[in-house]
Formats: sequence, C-alpha cells, structure tokens
Amino acid sequence: MPKAEKSPIPAHVAIIMDGNGRWAKARGLPRLAGHRAGTQNLRPIIRAAALAGIKYLTFYAFSTENWNRPREEVSGLMKLLDEFIDKETQALHAEGARLLHIGHLEGLPPTLQKKVEDAIALTSGNTRITVILAFNYGGRDEIVSAVRRLLAQGLPAEAIDEQALSGAMFTAGIPDPDLIIRTSGELRTSNFLTWQSVYSEWAFPKVNWPDFSEEDLTNILREFARRDRRFGGLTES
Ligand code: IPE
Ligand code: IPE
Ligand code: MG
Repeated sequence: MPKAEKSPIPAHVAIIMDGNGRWAKARGLPRLAGHRAGTQNLRPIIRAAALAGIKYLTFYAFSTENWNRPREEVSGLMKLLDEFIDKETQALHAEGARLLHIGHLEGLPPTLQKKVEDAIALTSGNTRITVILAFNYGGRDEIVSAVRRLLAQGLPAEAIDEQALSGAMFTAGIPDPDLIIRTSGELRTSNFLTWQSVYSEWAFPKVNWPDFSEEDLTNILREFARRDRRFGGLTES
C-alpha cells in the first residue's frame, strides 16, 4: 500500500463537487441544470490536473446519503452519469486517463453498471492519470464492507491490521489523498474517504462546483506546496 509522501505536487487529489444546486438556484434554474453544468466541468479539470502532474483524481459524485433526495433528482443524477460515460469515455481514453469507480455499483440501474464496467475495462491500460468516480460511495459503508470482506476470507482477529483494512477498501492500491478540495464553502466531509483522509490536506474554496476553474485549481496547488505536512512527526530542518 503506497503511503502519502511529501511532494510539492499532490499525487492524489480528491474533490467533493458541492454547490451545483446553489449554482442553479442563483440563476433561477432547476437543480438538475446545476448538476449538468457541474458534469461539464469534469473534463477541463481532469485535463488541468493531468497537466499539473497529478496522478490520481477522485470525484465525489453521489454519496450513499444522496439517495435521500427527491426521486427525480436521483434519477437525473443517474442519467447524467450515463451521459458522461457515453460522451466522455473516448476523450478520456485518448488522453491517457484510466477510469476507476469506488462505491457500490450494484444499486445503480443494470445498464449503467455495465457502461461503467465497460469504460473501466477500456481504459484499464492507461497510465497518464487515474480518474476515480465515487458514485454511490460512503466512507462508513466502505469500512463496513471492508471488515465484512476480511471476515468472509476467514481472517483471524490478529491478522486484521491497518494494512489488511486498507487492502480491503474500494481504494486498494490507490495512495491516500494528499489533498481534498470541497467546493461551495461547506466545511464538512459528508462521509467521503473516511479511512483514507486521516492525513489529507483540505481546501475549501467558496466557489460552487460548476464555477470551479483551472485557475482555482492552480491556486490551491500553489498553496498546497507551501504547507508543512508533518504526519505526526516534526518538520525536518
Ligand atoms: C453536489 O451539489 C452534487 C451532489 C451532491 C450530487 P449539491 O446538489 O449538493 O448542491 P447544493 O449543495 O444543494 O448547492
Ligand atoms: C456531498 O455533498 C456529496 C457529494 C458532493 C456527492 P452533499 O451536498 O450531499 O453533502 P451535505 O448533505 O451537504 O453534507
Ligand atoms: Mg450539497
């Protein structure tokens, strides 16, 4: 399991794409128009991240709690994921992006599950950047699933350690996020990467996700490079 390392460029950036609804409301548009605008922001941000040398980029797109939203909004979000896969997979593939998913694919419409699986298979050999979609993802749910997986394998209590748990998460093999960005000004984690985020640096830009720009990303990366990550130790002089 690769450990987070000190580097001016974060290897893994994770983004909580928040504020789509407020973006739409401010324009007198339905919430789904905000989700659509937010989805259109994925490609430029992925491209900018790849150019900056980021190797892993995770997007929180749908939480295990987002099922509590009105049925039309939930089905609209499913449809947007479906369209995103249809429209963007080839472009991502051409740009050398590998697509992964974390969360429970089961629970999504079967045709959508298949599309996501096909896009993952198509792009599996790409190495420029890994784009991880957290969809139907919850951090607590992930930990519970990991413990169940280990128990189902018959692991004895003494074999359950941090390494075993990390390897049983959806993120097995992916380094922990160095930097987590939550847009829209909300200051909470909302069940995102609970296990993996213990030493992540956080950034809370006030901009809503559809307006989050390449320049916003650049500014956060510049600020990240100045941070002193100690991992519980002391700063080396
Ligand atoms: C984030 O935008 C997208 C999802 C949670 C799916 P929101 O829909 O949460 O937008 P706000 O927070 O209502 O503005
Ligand atoms: C977190 O945003 C989930 C995603 C961005 C997918 P929410 O808008 O769902 O979080 P809360 O409800 O404000 O905490
Ligand atoms: Mg929100």
